[in-house]
Amino acid sequence: MATAIEVARHNAVEGCVHECFAALMAAVRAQTAEARGLRRIFARIAADEAQHGELAWDLHTWLLGQLSEEEAAEVTALRAAALRGLEARAAAAQVGVPGELGRLGAGEVAALAGRFASLLAA
Ligand SMILES: [Fe+2]
Repeated sequence: MATAIEVARHNAVEGCVHECFAALMAAVRAQTAEARGLRRIFARIAADEAQHGELAWDLHTWLLGQLSEEEAAEVTALRAAALRGLEARAAAAQVGVPGELGRLGAGEVAALAGRFASLLAA
């Protein structure tokens, strides 16, 4: 069974950062995708991912209370590192994305990731 610190490490990166950014990207695709059907699908994905992200933050807050000060600092540092790496990760993820999903350049997505990361890091 996973320990609290193991869950906290994973949740801080995959939940608090990547799920939340996925929600944002889905919301953008809900505006930019060419087909109305695709925009509707992305709107639903965005809502789901936003709930996953919210759960991740609630879990993160609770888990930090279960950890030692040192462990909590490690988890917080992992989350900060994931935020710092988000721009490059988001730009790389744009390579090969079909144009039907909306023409977002790697630079635009990197800028979005950078703004997102700065808001979450604040
Ligand atoms: Fe999700």
